[in-house]
Amino acid sequence: MKLSIFNGSPKLGINNTGILLESFITGFQETPDNEVEMIRMNNEQSYKDAAIRFEAAEAVLIAFPLYSYAMPAGVKTFLEQLEPLLGKCTGKKVGFLVQFGFVEAIHARGLEKYLEHLTKALDCDYEGIIIKGGCDGISRNKKGAKKILMGAYEIGKTYGIEKVFNKEQLDKYSAPEIQKKQNPFVMKILFRLINKLYWEKSFKKNGVTYESSFARPYEN
Ligand SMILES: Cc1cc2nc3c(=O)[nH]c(=O)nc-3n(C[C@H](O)[C@H](O)[C@H](O)COP(=O)(O)O)c2cc1C
Repeated sequence: MKLSIFNGSPKLGINNTGILLESFITGFQETPDNEVEMIRMNNEQSYKDAAIRFEAAEAVLIAFPLYSYAMPAGVKTFLEQLEPLLGKCTGKKVGFLVQFGFVEAIHARGLEKYLEHLTKALDCDYEGIIIKGGCDGISRNKKGAKKILMGAYEIGKTYGIEKVFNKEQLDKYSAPEIQKKQNPFVMKILFRLINKLYWEKSFKKNGVTYESSFARPYEN
């Protein structure tokens, strides 16, 4: 089986989507004759090229980070390029991998509905979606993410053998669906600390001021 994997993380260097995919691919390729074609989408031209590769592919996995309960703008650009293919992709298998920072799977459930609808509008076979929260730090601490990476490996392995996603396995992997209600006082302090220790440091490292963090490069 040849699987075309589209990585839509907008980052230019190491990215969590890619790390998760590495584990998935290792599992997938344990079955002899399974082949992978990687398509990296992180600049304008690559989104256009990706649409052509999508049309030619027999089985597809579209992977990206959750951005504001949806997708990075570039992934949306890619999906919009598929418009001429609506209703014309009969027999093409399409699945998704969406990973993100918050732990609960519910953050990606709205997007899941959209992706399923889109796949069906293209007349592809909807394979399902690998949803995994708690992935924010995996590029910084691969050891700490061992369980997350092992889970992706197992899903890849099962998919490599059965050629379909195992729904039970995906549900187990994406748990918890929601978190228990937290004490609001503790949460307020926790978020202040996260802003101070994580986001402010990250802004500083990337030369971003508080004001420029509201930039809207895609507005026009
Ligand atoms: C602009 C932006 C929006 C984000 N929105 C969300 C979000 O809505 N929910 C969430 O849990 N994580 C969100 N994240 C965190 C990313 O999904 C997370 O860091 C992911 O692992 C990044 O993957 P990557 O390294 O492959 O790009 C956001 C990150 C950025 C930069």
